[in-house]
Parts: sequence; C-alpha cells; structure tokens
Amino acid sequence: MAFDDIREFVAHLEKTGHLKRVRARVSRDLEIAEITDRVSKGPAERNQALLFESVEGFDTPVLINAFGSPERMAAALGVEHLNDLSARVAKLLDMRMPGSLVDKLKKLGDLFDVAKAGPKHVRSAPCQEVVETGHPSLASLPVLQCWPKDAGRFITLPMVFTKDPVTGARNVGMYRLQVYDERTLGMHWQIHKGSAEHQRLAEERRAPMDVAIALGGDPACIYSASAPLPPGIDEMVFAGWLRGSGVPMVRCKTVDLDVPAETEIVLEGTVDPAERRLEGPFGDHTGYYSLARDYPVFHLKAVTRRRQPIYPTTIVGRPPQEDYWLGKATERIFLPIIRLMLPEVVDMNMPAEGVFHNLVIVSIKKRYPGQARKVMYALWGLGLMMLAKNILVVSEHVDVQNLSEVAWRATGNVDARRDIVIVDGPMDDLDHAALRHRFGGKMGIDATEKNADDAIGQPWPEEIAMSEEIRALVARRWTEYGL
Ligand SMILES: Cc1cc2nc3c(=O)[nH]c(=O)nc-3n(C[C@H](O)[C@H](O)[C@H](O)COP(=O)(O)O)c2cc1C
Repeated sequence: MAFDDIREFVAHLEKTGHLKRVRARVSRDLEIAEITDRVSKGPAERNQALLFESVEGFDTPVLINAFGSPERMAAALGVEHLNDLSARVAKLLDMRMPGSLVDKLKKLGDLFDVAKAGPKHVRSAPCQEVVETGHPSLASLPVLQCWPKDAGRFITLPMVFTKDPVTGARNVGMYRLQVYDERTLGMHWQIHKGSAEHQRLAEERRAPMDVAIALGGDPACIYSASAPLPPGIDEMVFAGWLRGSGVPMVRCKTVDLDVPAETEIVLEGTVDPAERRLEGPFGDHTGYYSLARDYPVFHLKAVTRRRQPIYPTTIVGRPPQEDYWLGKATERIFLPIIRLMLPEVVDMNMPAEGVFHNLVIVSIKKRYPGQARKVMYALWGLGLMMLAKNILVVSEHVDVQNLSEVAWRATGNVDARRDIVIVDGPMDDLDHAALRHRFGGKMGIDATEKNADDAIGQPWPEEIAMSEEIRALVARRWTEYGL
C-alpha cells in the first residue's frame, strides 16, 4: 500500500493500532523528546508513533516516531516485512532473460515500474495552500529542543533539496537544521554528502545556492532523503519506484527548485556557499553530543504550507531510536546492490549498537584465502560504506542478525595477529574517537573459519553438532520426557 502524504500514513498507523494521539499539553522543549525516548526504548507493544495534538504555544500537531519500528518502517515503504525490500530490489536487478512468456511479461512489468517512477509536475499543490513571502518566519513551527545541552532547537526530519550548479541534477538529503532565529538555519550537511558537493561547486562559482526544505509528504519520499544513493540517482525517482507511482512535484515560489506537492510545509531560501556559522552541539545518534563546528547558513525567503499542517520530526540519541529503522530499511534495500558487486556476500547487519557506521557485520561464501579481506576493502570503497569503522566478516552459515552467535564466532574464530586488518581512511563526521576529525583508523576482523589454505598452524576443529538420528529420536519422544 502506498501513501500520498503523511496524513494517509498517520490514518493507516492509527487504524492498525500503531499510533497514539497525545492530547495532554506538552512542551516542545525536552518534554516531547523524553516521552519519545521512553516510548521508542520501551516494550514493543507501547512503541507507537506519537501525534502530539496540544503543544504549548502552537496549533500545529507534532508527529514523531512514525518510522520507529520494523512494522511501521515496512508499512511506510509499502511492504509487509523489511526483507521484502531486498527481494524487490533483487528482482529488479536480475538481468537474466526469463524463459517463459509469462516470466518475460513479469520482467517487463518490473521495468515498467521504473519507467513510471519519474516525478509528475503539477501546477497547484497542497503544500502551497498558504504562501508567506513578505516577512516569512519559522516562528510558527513547533521545532523541538531534543537534549539539555543542545545549542538550541533543531529541525530533524527534513528533506533538503539542492541542485548541482553545473548539471542541474537534484539532490535530496536528510540533514538536521539548527534554528538560529526566525529567518536563519544552520545546514548540517556533512562533507561526504550530496548537498555538500553542490555547495563546493557553488562556492567555486561564487554563486548563491537555492535550497528548499520540505517537511512531511509521502513516507517513501521522506525515507528516500535518508538513503545513501549514489550521486546522479534522483531520490525522487527512487521514491517514485518505492511507492509505485511518480511523485507529484511543484515548482517553488521563490527558488529554482521543485518539491513534492503533498508535503506539509516548505521553507524556501538561499545559502551563500562562502558563509559559515557555528552549528551544534547537538545530542546525536551516536549517543554523545556532536561538537559545535562551522556549517553553511540558510536564509529564509518564503514559507509555503498547508492551511493546517502537521509538523513531522524525530529525535536521535542513544540507540535504539527511530533513525535505526530508517537505517535498517537502507540495509535491506542496499544488500542486493552490494551482492551484485560482491556476489559472495550472503547477508549483513548494521546493529543499533553500532550506530550505522561503527559496525558492519557481513557473512560471505568463502571460497579462497584472503576473501574476507577482499570484501572489507571493497566495502570501504563503496559509497558511504567508506565511513564504516569496523567490518566483521563471518562465514555464510552464521546468522548475522543474531548478535549472540556473532559474538561467539567473532571471539572464538579470530587470532589477533592473523585476522585483524587495520587501515586508515575517511571517518564519519560524528566519530568522536577518530585520530582526527573525519580521518582515522578502521578495523576489519576476519572471523570466518580458517583451513589449510589460510596457512594456519594447527588443524581447524570440527564444530559440535548432534547426530541427525538422535535429534529425530528426541523430537519424536519429546512429550514423553515431560519437559
Ligand atoms: C534522522 C536522520 C538525521 C540525519 N542527519 C544528518 C545530518 O545532520 N547531516 C548529514 O550529513 N547526514 C544526516 N543524516 C544522514 C543522511 O540523511 C544520509 O547520509 C543521506 O544519504 C544523505 O543524503 P545524500 O547522500 O544525498 O547527501 C541523517 C539521517 C537520518 C535518518
């Protein structure tokens, strides 16, 4: 099931028991964050999306934790289980010519899904029901302060639209935005990200950059802003493919950009690519405050919105939180793409504890010595995987989603002198332990079983397993034991 906008998604979540309306009066400063943190870390049956309907000083309701469970994340992208996303991408990438006519027609259907994924341009849009251009202001948005030592209030779930000043290609990224005042925002696009590249190109040309910030909209669009797509792949086409139809887009009122027509609120403005201002600190998804650093500044030119918008947001902090599930969707979508280039890869897991880039666990079909290393090096060269700090490789039969099994294999199967690889490379902007900001050491751990090909000094032992005969016998007699 695809959704046209965030309202349809909210209605679906409510109908299926995944959303709670909070009518009690709450403050946008810290209180909503503390409630949400408890809900997202609490028992699964209480981990619901929250719609705060009475935020002190505002008419606008605040939606949070909408993507914060596997069920809600899957529903947002129109599938039943997150694993179905891998299957959908794998089907698309399967370039083998099918045999039967029926299979050929199915394949044609898959390609047709891509063909109809392009954005559709519309002239009037719900996100432009109200247009404020004279004295636009951010003051009507119930932007949250998330943690006590945050530098202020931050917009945390935006789709940030920019374009390449040379090719005109669009980028959409999810980057937090610090509210400095009613007209100015800090743009926390990190150095490795798409819009940072657009800013570098604009700076070379000494030209101001148009920027549009869209809040709300179809959940597939919101997710796509967070997806690490390679440059040149349009997030809005990707969103169109995910939702099964092209995203309706409308021209902004004051900048040369298009935004999804069904969003709730759009902030239009410009960034002078040479201007910088201190952004942060901010309680980040690492569980620590990220340090204050210089980032570009957005100057507001217009606010366009629905008459009665919903303000969608999220909080990040010590995991697990809502962003973990956005990342899980990415892991499932990108697995078949990684397998296209590294066919030995079976599965991967980026657990919540590893906050995406700190730990990537990958299982492989190992066929030759050094293959685990080859996989590590290849992953470190793939898009934003370059930021992975630790890569742990296990054999194909290990369930990478089972952290207990992974810990058992990773400690037992490893000799520190033989199986650990230390390299240097680019580090995530938020890595507080790196040797220096954005550069540091990375570790690869080869926890696959070793054999004579790996030139080991002693025979590799056999793993314990009960005989099939006894297992079958015990299964047959189980009720007799009275256990
Ligand atoms: C809730 C949330 C907040 C994020 N905040 C930031 C941020 O402040 N800065 C940043 O560079 N990336 C942030 N990211 C990650 C980017 O959205 C992600 O890397 C995405 O691929 C960026 O798009 P791009 O590859 O087109 O630049 C955030 C992701 C999520 C889910």
